[in-house]
Amino acid sequence: MNEDTMLVQRIANGTVVDHIPAGRALSVLRLLGEPQKRGVRVAIVMNVKSSKMGVKDLVKVEGLEIEEQTAQRLALIAPQATINIIREYEVVQKTKAVPPEVVYALLKCVSSSCITNKEREPLVTTFYRRSHKPLVYSCRYCGRDIDENEISEQLIGVSL
Ligand code: CTP
Ligand code: ZN
Repeated sequence: MNEDTMLVQRIANGTVVDHIPAGRALSVLRLLGEPQKRGVRVAIVMNVKSSKMGVKDLVKVEGLEIEEQTAQRLALIAPQATINIIREYEVVQKTKAVPPEVVYALLKCVSSSCITNKEREPLVTTFYRRSHKPLVYSCRYCGRDIDENEISEQLIGVSL
């Protein structure tokens, strides 16, 4: 029995997002559209030991299977995440999150002088992936880079 199974039970159906960098579990829930606010049962495990990562977070969402597009977006804040789809207590699908090449309307540019941050110019933000490891995106409009640590801070509230 590993450390997280001691803390929370296995789930019957749903999704387990594993290998989340420690401290980012709440950002993951935000990206998933805060399912806990819709009455969905959610388990959050933080700071458990991981052989690959040192420490990690983990999120279990019951009765909800995360879609491919959402899985990709998850990679923005958890580039090493494993997404496990669970059916009748079995892991039926295990995928690695892959950061998307283009990110629309999901990140706020860090530059206050960027046109996307001007009230009179309501523009949908667009970021292009410049590097995968480490993860770096750049703003389509001002070219400003946004690194892995900044990404989770710049997430615009989403409901998916
Ligand atoms: N899990 C769960 N409920 C289930 C089955 C699995 O909550 N019915 C969780 C496990 O606790 C684990 C994750 O889903 O955190 C992945 O399960 P599994 O593939 O069995 O674990 P590992 O082999 O350790 O995963 P990996 O190889 O990806 O590290
Ligand atoms: Zn910008």
